[in-house]
Amino acid sequence: MVDAATILSRAAAGLGREIGRANGLPRAAYTDPAFLAHEQDALFARTWMGVVFSEDVGAPGDAEPVVAAGVPVLIVRGTDGRVRAFHNVCRHRATIVLQAPAKGVRQFSCPYHAWTYDLDGRLVATPYFAGTKDSSPTERDPAALGLVPIACGEWNHIVFINLDGRAPPLDDYLAGTRKLFAPLDLDRARLGHRHAWDFAANWKLVFDNWEVYHHVWVHEGVFDRMSDEVDLKTGEPYTRSDAEGAVMSLSLKAGSPRHLRQSGPLATGALPPIPVKPGATVPAAAAVALLPNTTVTITRDAYVPAIYMPRAPDRTHARMAWYFHADALDEARAAGRDRVLDRWLGPTRRLEDRRGIRAQDHRCMELQQAARGSAVADDVVFSPTWEQNVHYFQRWVLAQLAP
Ligand code: FES
Ligand SMILES: [Fe+2]
Repeated sequence: MVDAATILSRAAAGLGREIGRANGLPRAAYTDPAFLAHEQDALFARTWMGVVFSEDVGAPGDAEPVVAAGVPVLIVRGTDGRVRAFHNVCRHRATIVLQAPAKGVRQFSCPYHAWTYDLDGRLVATPYFAGTKDSSPTERDPAALGLVPIACGEWNHIVFINLDGRAPPLDDYLAGTRKLFAPLDLDRARLGHRHAWDFAANWKLVFDNWEVYHHVWVHEGVFDRMSDEVDLKTGEPYTRSDAEGAVMSLSLKAGSPRHLRQSGPLATGALPPIPVKPGATVPAAAAVALLPNTTVTITRDAYVPAIYMPRAPDRTHARMAWYFHADALDEARAAGRDRVLDRWLGPTRRLEDRRGIRAQDHRCMELQQAARGSAVADDVVFSPTWEQNVHYFQRWVLAQLAP
């Protein structure tokens, strides 16, 4: 184990150079528990991070426990329809209060001594605390012993939290997505499928993968032709890489071939397009990373957000959802929805079969993680043509972690 400061100073030297001569984050940034602990405190806790989808807590009284940046968090939809987040920690002697997702509950009762909280986090019962059934602490103010709230907000079916409560407003954090999302009316999109799994790679490899250079080698059956990725005569990729603040995106350039712009390679054309505002047109495909742990992909026929949660230096939890036009949820469209899901998850829906693009990506990330057992992985290099986003992301991580 090396200390985080040593890893950061090595990384700063490699990433400080322009992209053509830069070296990426050293392997310890992907393998060292102390480095992950520093990331949890100095990066994840200080920004907004996606935690669940709105439909995970769809109705008042629906609640879900999550572990976000190592912190146990309780997400609940209140009786007023608003989503709230709390530290999932009993104020008596610190026990996890909510152990499993729950539907339609009216209160939370701690499993240890049954201290009870309402959906707003207020402490409403401390049975037998002073010996009798309805007694409560006399030397302390029960109003000060509610569940501790965490800043929380919802955007396009994703629930975000900010653990330290000091990040700029959620709207500011998402400002870089405004133009891309302006034509969309995703409130009218409906959840069609959910999938969650763990994979054996560091969380940063998800965002190191925000490039299309790998497409034809990794995603057989979906991205098969280099001529769909790049103008073979000029060497100019058809994808734009944009990055500003915590928003990093891949989208088709205006001058890309018409067949790409019309549908995008991930669209099947088998479903009504995702809902747009009156008079707006469905945008061409785009993949947007909301650093540090959320991504959204827009295709013609589905809106696909994903949330990634680090579990260990070499383990990440993924949670994905597919939203469609409400008409696409008709039974008659089941085959069309299956075609979309086949592209992402493979026809068996089993990640280990590696047949969908997400399973294929995560397999590559696992190979990259395994390669970080060797010191050779300290000196990775970037393609200036394709990998500006990777260089940007790694520098962004460094900037967040700088003392
Ligand atoms: S620790 Fe929760 S009631 Fe005692
Ligand atoms: Fe990929």
